Parts: sequence; structure tokens; C-alpha cells
Amino acid sequence: MNEHDSQRIAGILEADGYSETSNSSDADVVLLNTCCVRAKAEQKVLSEIGKLSLLKARRNFILAVCGCMAQKEKRKIIKRFPEVDIVLGTNDVIHLKKAIDKAKKGEKTIFASSDFKSFNSAIPFLKKGNIKEFVTIMEGCNNFCSYCIVPFVRGRERSRPLEEIICEVEHLAKGGCKEVTLLGQNVNSYNSPSSDACDFSTLLEKINEIEGIERIRFVTSHPKDFDRKLINAIKRLDKVCRNIHLPLQSGSDKILKLMNRNYTVEEYMEKIELLKSEIPEVGISSDIIVGFPGEDEEDFNYTLNAIEKIRFDTLFSFCYSHRPPAKSSTLDETLTIEEKLERLNLLQSIQRKISMEKNIAEEGKIKAVLVEGVSKRSSKDLTGRTEQNRVVNFKGDESLIGKIVQVKITKAYSNSLRGRIDR
Ligand code: 5AD
Ligand code: SF4
Repeated sequence: MNEHDSQRIAGILEADGYSETSNSSDADVVLLNTCCVRAKAEQKVLSEIGKLSLLKARRNFILAVCGCMAQKEKRKIIKRFPEVDIVLGTNDVIHLKKAIDKAKKGEKTIFASSDFKSFNSAIPFLKKGNIKEFVTIMEGCNNFCSYCIVPFVRGRERSRPLEEIICEVEHLAKGGCKEVTLLGQNVNSYNSPSSDACDFSTLLEKINEIEGIERIRFVTSHPKDFDRKLINAIKRLDKVCRNIHLPLQSGSDKILKLMNRNYTVEEYMEKIELLKSEIPEVGISSDIIVGFPGEDEEDFNYTLNAIEKIRFDTLFSFCYSHRPPAKSSTLDETLTIEEKLERLNLLQSIQRKISMEKNIAEEGKIKAVLVEGVSKRSSKDLTGRTEQNRVVNFKGDESLIGKIVQVKITKAYSNSLRGRIDR
């Protein structure tokens, strides 16, 4: 979501005559688009602002901070770093041009309204003619998982009108885009404000009809809302990838309850079983938080058991961090950072083994790969992804970029596969 927000910010700047530079020492405007979902991301931003503030002492440029952290900290950012010219919240990048004009005159702008009522569609976004693009279908979240700051910094859930989404995807398809990833904190509860009967499955159906689009992905689904209707849509619609990101967060019912996730491990497992039985070769990824307050050895072992039983293809795992004003930040932490890291390392080593075994199981298979471009590692290789989102590198002509080709998998690595075009 942040990546896509950055594209929107770049779109506003481009419309104002700016162009992108890869080097901040050349830039007239340096903008940090921030995330505060986990404490680590926030620390990285603070250190980056510190570095840029030093750079500003030597060379003048406009320094802007946008995104979740700007929303959360507001004027505290400028108090700590007076070199920052602009602070814009998650729903306020629309004011960027005005803020830059003010900064040129030496005036500061701090704008982080809490008016999250409607979907902010008017913002252009920078289109680079990519094979894959993100499309936001909804913003905000109503779930209030106890550890999560998102509802506080992105507001309540609001869906984007169907017509706008279709228009954007058609436009992307005309520009050469082949794969769209639909973005929302909880895509399952999509409900177009402009059309009575357009839920998420119907939206998928409509996008499936758009000429030029070959693949559709979506993130994130909440297990409590993930249902048979969506499984049927994935099964029925040929462009919807057989791949799903379904965050489990913990394998302990006690912790899930404290997290306010509204499902039990058993209910989650049932949905996974249904997915696996209904959709052959479905790829499943998930998120896990270790060290939530009150997570004891037994709870952690339940989580390990769950990941060993489910065998996710990919797992994103994090140490718990307090994120006030999220509810769990009032609970006492029961583990030290070292203890949390120890659990995280153990969980990740088990998952690494599972992911490797799953990659090895791909050897010898013929997979449909959407060719994304020339590999960054070797100019002789093309790179693309399978429906299940595995990276595949193989030799081939650049004319194949943007096409789906059949590739025989010859070798598995921990994070990618090697293959050759199957003729
Ligand atoms: N601490 C650790 N991880 C968190 N996440 C969200 N909030 C926190 C937190 N306070 C993780 C969840 C979520 C992912 C995007 O970030 O696993 O699914
Ligand atoms: Fe945060 Fe839960 Fe909403 Fe995801 S569903 S954004 S974890 S509150």
C-alpha cells in the first residue's frame, strides 16, 4: 500500500513538472513516505530524516514527510527536526503541490486531518508502463486488531467506486500492464458505494473481463471474512491467481482472542483445508507476530505446530512491538526483545526449511510464468513469476517480456526457481 501511495505522490509531482531522480543529493524535493505499522519501520524513518537534515545543512532542498508516521506524529516531527518543511498525513497528499509552493517561500506546512470519510480518488499516479501495477480498491480498516495502528492512521474502511476501479484498470491495460494487484486492508469487505450489488467477488468478475489484463492478485484478506464465495470466484475466474495471502498472526486461540482477530485456529485451519481441496496448487502466504504480550512457551509452540501443519509457501514474521494508541499497547510486555528474537529466529528457520521443500517440489513441473523483464542479477536471464508468486529465472528473448510463457522448472533455490522455456 505504501509503495502505491508513493506512486500517487510521484504522480502529483510529475504533473507539476518534476521528474524522478535515484539520487537524493540531486533532488530539489526529497520526500519520505513513511510506515508506522511496526516500530522498526518508524526507527528507520527517524534515522533517514536525521541524515537528510544533515545534508540540508550543506545544500538546500525541500524536505517532506508523508504517510502513516506523518499522520501519527504531526507537528512532533518538525519539533524534533526543524529542517523538515512539509508534513502531510495519509489522506492529505492532495495538498502536496500547495505545500511545495509554500516551502519555496520558506513557509512550513503541517497537514494531517482526521477526515477519512471518502476515498481520495482525485490523485493522479505515476504510471511507468510496468507489467505489474497496484490498484487501491479500498482504504482504512474497521477491524481494530488490538496490536494494529492502521485504523488510527488510515481511518475507517471506505471502498472506492466500482466505475473508478474499472476505469483505472482499463487505462493500465491500455498502457501495457498485464497484472494488477488489488489493494485494501481487508479486501473481502469491499462494497462499492456506487453500486448496490458489487461485493469483492463481483469486482473480481468485472476485472476478469478487462481485455489485456492477464492476471489478478489481491491483498489482504481477513480470515474471518474469507468465505466460500471468494474461493468459488478464484476457482471460476481464469485470470485470478491461485494464490492467497491470509494472515494467521498466531497459532494460539488465547493470543488470537487477545489480538481481537475474531477466529479460532480451528476455523482458520478449516478455511485452509477448504482452499487446498477446492483449488489445486493454491499458493498460501501468511503473517505471524511473535511475542505478543502474554504469549508463553505453550502459545508459541501452538504457532510452530500451526505453521508445520499448514506449510505456507511464504511467511512474513515479525516481533511484536507496542504501537500506541492500539489497544494492546496498554498491556505489559512479557518478553524481552532477545526472547522475542529467539522465537522469531526459530520460527523463521522452520519456515525456511518448509519454503525450500516446497520450492524443490516444483522441480520438473511446467509452470505458466508472466515475464516481467530482464533479471537484475544477470542480463542474460529473463525473470517472471508463477501464479503462486514464485520468482523464476530462465534464458529467453526480451520480446517475451509481458507474455505468459510455459517454463519447465529445473532447479529450486531458497528464494527463486531456475527453469527453461518449454517448447
Ligand atoms: N507488531 C508487530 N507486527 C505487527 N503487524 C502489525 N502490527 C504489528 C505490531 N504492533 C504485522 C501484522 C500485519 C503486518 C502487516 O504487520 O502481522 O499482518
Ligand atoms: Fe490492522 Fe487488523 Fe485492520 Fe489488518 S485487519 S489493517 S491487522 S486492524
